[in-house]
Amino acid sequence: MFCKSLLKSGLLACKQESPSGLKCTASAFSPVCEGRYRTASTAVRDKLKTIDDLDGPSFLTSLYWFFGKGYFKVAHQMQIEHSKLYGPLWKSTYGPLVVINVASADMIEQVLRQEGRYPVRTDMPHWRRYRDLRQQAYGPLTEMGAEWLRIRSILNPRMLKPKHVSSYTNAINEVVTDFVKKLALLRATKGNGVLVHDVAGELYKFAFEGISSVLFETRLGCLNEVVPEETQKFIFSVGEMFRLSPIVVLFPKSVWPYMPFWKHFVSVWDHLFKVADDLVRKKMAQIDEDVKRGEPVDGEYLTHLLISKQMSLTEVLGSITELLLAGVDTTSNTISWALYHLAREPEIQERLHKEVVSVCPGEKVPSSEDLSKMPWLKAIIKETLRLYPVVPGNARVTAESEIVVGGYVFPKNTLFHLCHYAVSYDETIFPEPHTFLPQRWLREHKHPDHHPFGSVPFGFGIRACLGRRVAELEMYLILTLRHWLLTAFTVYHHELWPNAEVSAKFTDLSI
Ligand code: HEM
Repeated sequence: MFCKSLLKSGLLACKQESPSGLKCTASAFSPVCEGRYRTASTAVRDKLKTIDDLDGPSFLTSLYWFFGKGYFKVAHQMQIEHSKLYGPLWKSTYGPLVVINVASADMIEQVLRQEGRYPVRTDMPHWRRYRDLRQQAYGPLTEMGAEWLRIRSILNPRMLKPKHVSSYTNAINEVVTDFVKKLALLRATKGNGVLVHDVAGELYKFAFEGISSVLFETRLGCLNEVVPEETQKFIFSVGEMFRLSPIVVLFPKSVWPYMPFWKHFVSVWDHLFKVADDLVRKKMAQIDEDVKRGEPVDGEYLTHLLISKQMSLTEVLGSITELLLAGVDTTSNTISWALYHLAREPEIQERLHKEVVSVCPGEKVPSSEDLSKMPWLKAIIKETLRLYPVVPGNARVTAESEIVVGGYVFPKNTLFHLCHYAVSYDETIFPEPHTFLPQRWLREHKHPDHHPFGSVPFGFGIRACLGRRVAELEMYLILTLRHWLLTAFTVYHHELWPNAEVSAKFTDLSI
């Protein structure tokens, strides 16, 4: 894999700086919402416990867990161990930083329903610093407060409305077709006709190409036999930026300019913005040409952002770049895990194949309408995201006012760590939690205790994932892979999957 997800690496590593000037709003949904808390009787208020009453590991104990017990690289698994020790709500202290961990579906719901008008996840100071340095605009990941809401309201419609998202189907299907061709080539030239080495790496390139084709309305050639040099440099810069981000953020802001890697961090950002700038300007030139010739301006996401003039060019660039960064390894990791289970569990693969063929007989290319008739396909993705959530621990800061969760009152500016990973494996919500069971998502099989906040892989509320619909479209379309390959696939070297250099074996159906 080229890089770590920004969401995975950035969420809890950042100290929070909440935007100023925000007013308090009462949540209409919360059972014990802060609005009601304020008007509650003194008796009710007196019954509430405070942060001081919460148990949890000290800084030293956490250090021991991370480095003595080796949880540093698998911090998400620590959620499960700590919730067994301390219960569903506990505090972790890291010097001056106090984190409130929440590992129950009910309480996660309570936090999210009180997130206020401008939810704050993390302030990503290292990303913001680059933008300040080069006078670049913040995007949906780095912006906060009222400005963030303004950007989201411009970016949302064409990313989240089904009628707009379905118009990206052709572009993504073209990338799927190229991926299938690439697999055939790799099998023929490097895999004795059956093996494809480093499947996860190929999927990363698929995701990079897929999201670029939607965002920039252009093909970068990530799946070409020889990847263009400029594209290779672009992919490399994204990888380097993600590799350096968690290192930079470990140090105080004041020392960044003096750190040896800071210059490199800035230069990879420079390259990334330069490529994005070139692509956006190319599109603008195309639009100008069309206008000059009196032809209708044709296009999708970028064209719409540019011609609607709701954002300046710098703002478009800031947002498109962040969408690209959020949209690559998130989808490619999920597809890797889904294919891994399909490869290991032939009956699940077979059922999917039958479903796809029944909706798309012969050589029919799936449309977004076809996908809506494939519940098994969707259940496979939901189950994959439950077992391997891209964001195993999300965050929220109560930037607007104090809130009440689980009978405790938390002051303004409390940082909550939402332990989605632990909840995804809660056997009271998901029986046999370690087993890959897509059927649990089918209406007829749903467990009576199924909690809507048991698995929320794309987050919740107005700050939820901006790319959800596009990501789903990409993942659904590529999972119809077997339909196109006309081969079943099994895993080779499965113990390593989905890390780098893993091979998959493709066996002709007729064999
Ligand atoms: C399997 C694929 C993906 C998963 C599981 C995923 C998950 C998430 C999650 C959990 C969040 C945080 C939401 C919250 O705090 O409530 C998020 C935010 C975000 N995602 Fe995704 N994501 C995926 C793919 C994508 C793609 C393809 C794009 C771009 C097209 C994208 C763009 C974003 C952006 C821009 C944000 C920040 C939104 C904001 O802060 O306003 N994501 N994603």
